[in-house]
This record gives sequence, C-alpha cells and structure tokens, in this order.
Amino acid sequence: MYTFKKLFCKIWFGISCLSVFMFTDTNAQTTKLTLDLTKPSANVSPMLYGLMTEEINHSYDGGLYAELIRNRVFKDNPTKPEGWSLVQRDTINSKATMKIIAATEDNVPFDERRHAINGALQSCLRLTVEKAGGRVGIANEGYWGIPVKPNTTYNASFYIKGTASIQPFRRPGSQQPQQPSGPVIEDNTAGPITVTIESNDGQTIYASGSIDLVKSTFWKKYELTLTTSADVKPTADARFVISTNRTGLYYFNLVSLFPPTYKNQPNGFRQDLMQMLVDMKPKFLRFPGGNYLEGPLITDAFPWKTTLGPIENRPGHKGSWGYRASDGLGLLEFLMWCENMRAEPVLGVYAGYSLNGDHVDSGTLLKPYVDDALDEIEYVMGDVKTYWGAKRAADGHPAPFKLKYVEIGNEDWFDRSNSYDGRFNQFREAIEKKYPKLVCISTIADAQYPTQKVTSGKKPAVLDEHYYRNSWAMWENASQYDKYDRNGPKIFVGEWATREGAPTTNLNAALGDAAWMTGMERNSDHIIMSCYAPLFVNVNTATATAPKAWQWDSDLIGYNALNSYGSPAYYVQKLFGNYLGNKIVPVKAENIPTQPRPLTRKDSTDGITIAPLVPTVFYSATQDDKTGIIYLKVVNTTGKQQPVEISIKGVGKISPEATLIVIKGDKPEYTNSITEPEKIAPVTLPITGIKPIFTRTLDPYSVSIYKLQTSKQQKN
Ligand code: AHR
Repeated sequence: MYTFKKLFCKIWFGISCLSVFMFTDTNAQTTKLTLDLTKPSANVSPMLYGLMTEEINHSYDGGLYAELIRNRVFKDNPTKPEGWSLVQRDTINSKATMKIIAATEDNVPFDERRHAINGALQSCLRLTVEKAGGRVGIANEGYWGIPVKPNTTYNASFYIKGTASIQPFRRPGSQQPQQPSGPVIEDNTAGPITVTIESNDGQTIYASGSIDLVKSTFWKKYELTLTTSADVKPTADARFVISTNRTGLYYFNLVSLFPPTYKNQPNGFRQDLMQMLVDMKPKFLRFPGGNYLEGPLITDAFPWKTTLGPIENRPGHKGSWGYRASDGLGLLEFLMWCENMRAEPVLGVYAGYSLNGDHVDSGTLLKPYVDDALDEIEYVMGDVKTYWGAKRAADGHPAPFKLKYVEIGNEDWFDRSNSYDGRFNQFREAIEKKYPKLVCISTIADAQYPTQKVTSGKKPAVLDEHYYRNSWAMWENASQYDKYDRNGPKIFVGEWATREGAPTTNLNAALGDAAWMTGMERNSDHIIMSCYAPLFVNVNTATATAPKAWQWDSDLIGYNALNSYGSPAYYVQKLFGNYLGNKIVPVKAENIPTQPRPLTRKDSTDGITIAPLVPTVFYSATQDDKTGIIYLKVVNTTGKQQPVEISIKGVGKISPEATLIVIKGDKPEYTNSITEPEKIAPVTLPITGIKPIFTRTLDPYSVSIYKLQTSKQQKN
C-alpha cells in the first residue's frame, strides 16, 4: 500500500534532490575572481577604518582608563560605599565603622557638612576607629580585583583628614543636636598610615608603603609608590588597603592607584589595551558615544567641560549604561587616545536629544547647546589664543588637534518628535559659520529612516548608518553598498557588528564582519568611514559585591583586571586595517556559490516562504599605487574547502611568491577568551605559484588576505 508516509518521503526526497541539484549545479562551476587593473580605479577612503567608543561594559572605568580604585570619590552609590569594605584584624579588641558622608547633596545632616574638597568632591568616606586592637582600615576591591604583577610600581594617592571629632560650627542661638553623630575620640590620629596591595584574605602583602599623617582638620593629599617584588605571581585576587592601628576619625577622598600606564602618560591608559588599539592602525576615533553622548536625561549628556583638568575637578556623571562614570577619561584623554593611535577624532556633540525621549526644540532653547558644541570644538582645534584653546594649553596640550568631522547627536531616529531636521540645521549652520572646513554628519541615514531624514537646508554631506545583525543578515546584505547612489551623501557606518557570541564575538561573527567589510571596502569611494561597536568589554561576571561588568553582548576586545584578548572579530578588524591599499581594484566575480539562509519571523511577515540564497564567498581587492602591492581579501563562510581561480587582468609583472594571512577555525562557534586568548588568531604564511591566473583553495570558515607583489600598474 502506498502509505502517506511513503508518499511524503518520496516527495521530500525529490525536493531534497532538487535542492542539492540546484545547490551543486551553481557550486560545481569554478568560482572565479577577476581583478581588473585595466579599468580606472577609485580611491579607497583614507579614513575607511576607525574605532567607535563609549563608556559601556566598563570600557573606561575598569577598562582602558588605568585607574584601579573603584568608586574613588564615593559617589557610585549614595546608600553604601560600593567597592569598599572595612578591614579589622582583631574584631574583639577593635571597634570601627565606616560611613559615606554627604553622598546625596540634599538633606546632609549638619554635623556631616564641611567635608567637601571642592564643588566636585563633596562626598567622602569616614572611618571611625573607637578601639584599635590591631590593624583597622578601609579596603578597595578594585574593578573585579586589583591586578598584581611582578616588578611593578604603582602610584597611590589619596586625600585624608586626620583629626578628631569636633563640634560643628553653629550660628549663635541655633539648636544643638540631640545626640552627637559619632563617638568623641581623642585628637590623636597623627602618625603613620599604612598602604598596601594585599591578598583578599589579608594574608599576603604584595606591596607596602606608608605616609606620615599630619594632624589637620583640612584635606591634605598624600602620595606614595608601592612596588611589587620580582617573584610575585600575577593575580587579581587582591585588594588595596589603607590602614592604621590608632583610634581616630579618618576622612578619605579621591583614593587613587595607578599601575604603569601607556607611555607613562599621567592619568593614562592601560598598557595592554591601548597597544591592542594602536596595533589596529585605526584612522579615527568616534567619541564619546553612542548612548553615552546623550545620557538618559538631558542633564546627563556627556559633560565635557567638567571632564577637563585635574581629576580633583571632575565630579563624574551618571553615564548611560547603569553605572556612574568617573570622567577620569575625559575630553582631553579622548584626544590623547587619538594621538596615541595617530588617529583623528570624529567628535560627537550633544544635539539636544536624550535617551528617555526628551528633546530640546531648535531656536532659542537649543542655542546654549549649540554654543556648548562650539566651545567644545574650540577646545579640540582652537588656537591657543582662543578661550578654549588656551584652556587646552593650560591642560598640557598647546597644539590643536586635527578635526574634520563633527557628528550632530547620536541615533536621532529614535526622536519621535521629528525635531532633528531643525536641530541638525541649527548646529550645522553655526558650526559651518565658524569653521567652514568642518563637515557635519547627520545621524539619520536616508536609506534606513527615509521618513525622518534631514530634508531642509543643504543635504547633509555625510550620513551615519548603524547595523547590528546576525551573520546571515551580514552575508545577505554584504553587497548593499554596490547599489548606493554615488550622487547621494557619503556614508559613515558609525556603528555596526555581527552580534554572535557573548561577551565577545565568535568566529561566525568574524565571518559575518569580514563579508560585510568586503562590501564597504569595494565601495570605499562612497563609504568613507566605518567603525565597529562596541569596542570593549570587561568580562567579569557578578560577584558577591559587584554586578556583572557588561551590558552588551558581542564585543570586540575582552579583559579582566589582569589580562586581555582580541575576539576573532578583533583580528578581522586589525587585518582589514593593516592590509589595505589606496586604490579600489574592480573585481568581477563568477559562479559564487550560495546557500539558503534560514527563514526568519520577518520573512513570514513579509510573505517570503522560500529561503533566499546568500553567497558563501565574499571578496574585495585594493592596491597600493606606490608599492604595487595588491591586497585581495576572500571570505569562505562554509565548512567546506572552496577552490577559487584568481585572474589579474592587465598585470605587468607579478612575483610568484606572496604572503597569505589567514584567520580560520574548525567550528564557527569557536571563540577566544581569557583562558584561550588565541584559539582563533591570524597565521601568516609564505605562498608560491602566483601568476596572472592562479588557483587557491580557501580553507573552511576562513578569511584569507593575499598580499601580492605586482609592478606598479594603476595610473589613476
Ligand atoms: O553600541 C551600543 C549602542 O548601540 C550605542 O550606544 C548606541 O548608539 C546604539 O544603539
């Protein structure tokens, strides 16, 4: 009997054969890439690959900014001294407490006033030692640990008032408090104060020093260095402790501990992370966000003016990702970061729209924000004779920074009031009037948000597009820029990533990225800048005292207090930036194999019932017209080897020897981590047999960059 099941199997077999036939039919023919050196070629944008940054995932505090003390000005949590704990060796014979003073600016009890260092540092930590039967102090846990490394000198500093409790000043006739707020302690706190980096159980001291506390009712800054010995084993299972064995009231503020920084810059950057960025050779840095530019409320926007000067003058601010920002990494540090990488700033200025949806109307209400942006631009690029240029010089950097691009806001398509048109034009007119050479970038891309785009005034010269996709979507859309109208505004892909893998991306995401990047590179006459996001992630999970460090999955560079690593996507970014010519080489592709992509929910809404075929091989080629070197990038997204015939039309001489740089892995879900930092990492190999027409076999799941030496060919 011909059962239904048999019939179903037969039909299914038929369909399968058909699809295999369709799949293999296309795939059976040799894949060919013909690089054409005879055709006029366009320039690769000199700014094509850059970086985007913001304070997310503890990118700066607990990341690139080298400060090791968490909550150094005691503002992170108004209800408790987050990151701090009491150290009390002998709990029977000691009596000590600690308390945050003036953590909120309202309703500060009378006896807790008068402890501000200045307007920025108003709250502090009080250690009350009534009985000291042994060591008593305060410990900071750092950002998921204090990193201890051998032979390392740390710079410690803090403000302290070492004095006894005194009655606060009261106006004559004012009411006396019912009860004194703390114990009355003898005025006997002057003397040595011990400072240590030690194991969390206090049993091992890795580095130690002391300061001589002066008896004073006023704040005084103390500084010292702490050096570890050569035989110390690296660990992050450590804390920073300031301790005493004398009774007293001790007030602390701005407690800081810096390891050696990148190029020993003061208030500087973590060495390993900055080096990883420098190695990418990015051409620009887009900052300060992202959402971090906007803030949850209008009052939380990136407060660049209070991020300048000595760290004592920086109150910090709320941040946009659920934790406070110390602003130790402020505007000048962003610019120094650019300078370290020899990159240009792409400055995002706050444009009157914040994340909760509030906006400031264009016109007189918006004018102060426009003026603020003009001041900021002057700080970046103004001559020392200008007001803000002089401030920058006073902050230690007289030379103006090069600036060409200013981005007006961030992701203003979220602003449902449709006020961006007016806001953008008001900013642009004021900026162009004062700085005619600056280019203002609109955050609303015509192609993505056609109903919200800027329509009045001049057409924006550059539009910022953002894409967060999975690898299927990246592969499917990798050629979207082949079709862009060259007469339209230039495109800045200011945030994008293949989001697969957590917290850092996996190999499959890197294959999505690489495919997408070939599309940007082929069209880099029009796609003038691009930057991946987010850049950084502190990979620590929650502990008993600290929350999980990150808020966003699929990031580029991961780290904990001690170590760091690049994701497979990091290596793709690095290689694409490092191996790039200045001329686009046109490539004709034939018989590119395809595979059906799984249907999505959106497909069903759009009425798509047959899985669309997406390419499995992606490519781009550029040439350096000075050296003649061709950089051919080819991506194979499948688990099969893929032969490719490569022809170079119009090539004069070509060296039979070349270099292949390849990133690959056996499984697309393979990834890097703190414990396996280089499971997926590029390998560089010499290859031979290169001719005007040659065949190479692409490895499964691979990104291959062929560095081919030709005689100099291209004329335009
Ligand atoms: O990159 C993470 C966030 O994604 C950015 O802050 C924001 O601009 C985008 O929505």
